[in-house]
Amino acid sequence: MRAASFSLLSTTLLLVGGAVAGSHGKSAECSAVDASIVAHSGQPVGSEVKNGNVTLYITKPDKKNPRTKARANTAVLYLTDVFGIALPENKLLADSFARAGYLTVAPDLFGGSPAPGDINVPGFNTTAFLAAHGPAATDPIIASTVAYLRDQLGVTRIAAPGYCFGGRYAFRFVASGRGVDVGYAAHPSLLESGEIAAIAGPVSIAAADGDTLFNAQARAAAEAVLLGTGQKYQVDLYSGTQHGFAVRANVSDESQRWAKEEAFLQAVRWFDRFFVKG
Ligand SMILES: *[C@@H]1O[C@H](CO)[C@@H](O)[C@H](O)[C@H]1NC(C)=O
Ligand SMILES: *[C@@H]1O[C@H](CO)[C@@H](O)[C@H](O)[C@H]1NC(C)=O
Ligand SMILES: *[C@@H]1O[C@H](CO)[C@@H](O)[C@H](O)[C@H]1NC(C)=O
Repeated sequence: MRAASFSLLSTTLLLVGGAVAGSHGKSAECSAVDASIVAHSGQPVGSEVKNGNVTLYITKPDKKNPRTKARANTAVLYLTDVFGIALPENKLLADSFARAGYLTVAPDLFGGSPAPGDINVPGFNTTAFLAAHGPAATDPIIASTVAYLRDQLGVTRIAAPGYCFGGRYAFRFVASGRGVDVGYAAHPSLLESGEIAAIAGPVSIAAADGDTLFNAQARAAAEAVLLGTGQKYQVDLYSGTQHGFAVRANVSDESQRWAKEEAFLQAVRWFDRFFVKG
């Protein structure tokens, strides 16, 4: 448990300079997306609002982007890793989903106190952190955000990408009656087989071959359970990657950057497949 918890949180936050991705991609192309819409650095473009006691990071698609109209009444519910919406990469990825034409909302899953970027800071207790943020604390935050999307913003279809910690919840909320229609999880952690078995919609997984948590054995077990659900699914394995790569890749490294961007495009194409006709 110690080793697993440590590994879950152990990658050091990297702040890497570079150009901000172009703001709309190539607007003439209605359906194609490419890596130009992924921002790795720069200022997030969304804003924070309160829904009850939960802070939401909201980033809206450009109405002039031809992809936006085809995605009316849909939303991306972005479920973060343990670093939460305080981590610039999480906001920037949420913005990237908005550039793909999706209204995107990321709830603060940790009440303003996410794991520190460097979990080796004195006094941070991983075991206590994870215990404090189990399903009993986290499910109500996500459920209130689903209700906000449907009741306040008029959203009728929701896709949830989840990363590490959040990946488990992408599965939990694709279960019957939980309000998410399509799920995606990158290097999920703490995901239980019963949660996979309970899905009632399609899910896609982006896995790292160097992930010590979601390792070859765990992936094989997950595939067997997915097959048994009868739902559509996709499992993509990225070579040379580690737990966390879809968010906190070293984007100065061409292979890591490619894998991060490809994992993002995997999510967009998966959501498009179920939400966008024609
Ligand atoms: C947030 O609000 C909900 C619903 O009103 C309540 O159940 C919960 O205890 C509150 N959480 C905190 C941390 O205040
Ligand atoms: C970390 O938290 C766990 C669970 O609350 C506790 O049992 C343990 O003693 C704590 N460890 C340290 C070093 O404080
Ligand atoms: C990131 O990748 C670059 C290019 O491969 C490398 O030079 C650099 O040392 C890496 N940074 C870290 C912190 O690993």
